[in-house]
Amino acid sequence: MSQQFDIKQYQIIDEPYYLAQANEVVLYEAAYAARLPVMLKGPTGCGKSRFVEHMAWKLGKPLITVACNEDMTASDLVGRYLLDANGTRWLDGPLTLAARYGAICYLDEVVEARQDTTVVIHPLTDHRRTLPLDKKGELVVAHPDFQLVISYNPGYQSLMKDLKQSTKQRFAAMEFNYPAVEVEASIVCTEAGIDAETAGRLVQIAVVARNLKGHGLDEGISTRLLVYAATLINRGIVPRDACRMALVRPITDDADIRDTLDHAIDSVFA
Ligand SMILES: Nc1ncnc2c1ncn2[C@@H]1O[C@H](COP(=O)(O)OP(=O)(O)OP(=O)(O)O)[C@@H](O)[C@H]1O
Ligand SMILES: [Mg+2]
Repeated sequence: MSQQFDIKQYQIIDEPYYLAQANEVVLYEAAYAARLPVMLKGPTGCGKSRFVEHMAWKLGKPLITVACNEDMTASDLVGRYLLDANGTRWLDGPLTLAARYGAICYLDEVVEARQDTTVVIHPLTDHRRTLPLDKKGELVVAHPDFQLVISYNPGYQSLMKDLKQSTKQRFAAMEFNYPAVEVEASIVCTEAGIDAETAGRLVQIAVVARNLKGHGLDEGISTRLLVYAATLINRGIVPRDACRMALVRPITDDADIRDTLDHAIDSVFA
């Protein structure tokens, strides 16, 4: 017996703004039509989550997102018995809800979860499309609309933290990166409501920083941070301060790199 639950709360009503980088929308639609599990790879803040939200909206499917972490157990995904005044009651976890009611389930940063947690997705992501609830003695057969999507950032993984091949090879994968400069400027413009010229300059700074990746920077400036800088500028902060605050200070503690980027800001906004 499952609890009263309304999947409609996970339906996305308003179109999430998403500007395509290439043919990812068509690729995802084909994967969804075949109910293939999809893996989204790419650096932080490049649009993976926004893309999933947009696609769930476009396909008219509810979206259940789970942020994975290393303390997460299989029960956190699948569900558990709860004790309350009336005794024990089973509570479906987010993965079970998605499978039962036909949502797209997005496991964000799945590589953070321990491998013994990750394997619970195996029967859902092959021809079986089932989820055994061992503690409850139930085998959930996934709803026809159910799809599993996972994300991870390949750069951050350590040797200890990688997905098993048997997990990886259950997914079709799409690689994301920072958008092309014109596309990114357009995103920054639309998201923060600033003028195209300022947006273009912000992207120029990001290009400089991204070239420093591997040369003192672990990660370049994300599209997300560009939107932050643009938002501050839109609130009246002078670009040089906004960029220092939103683009440089978050990503480095190294004084040399910081100065290099500050100089880039000064020359772009000279
Ligand atoms: N193609 C895009 N269209 C519209 N907005 C975008 C796009 N790419 C990035 N953005 C903007 O960048 C922000 C960050 O994107 P998002 O949260 O999807 O990143 P992410 O790849 O999921 O990052 P993380 O790995 O850290 O979760 C969004 O909130 C949005 O403002
Ligand atoms: Mg995300």
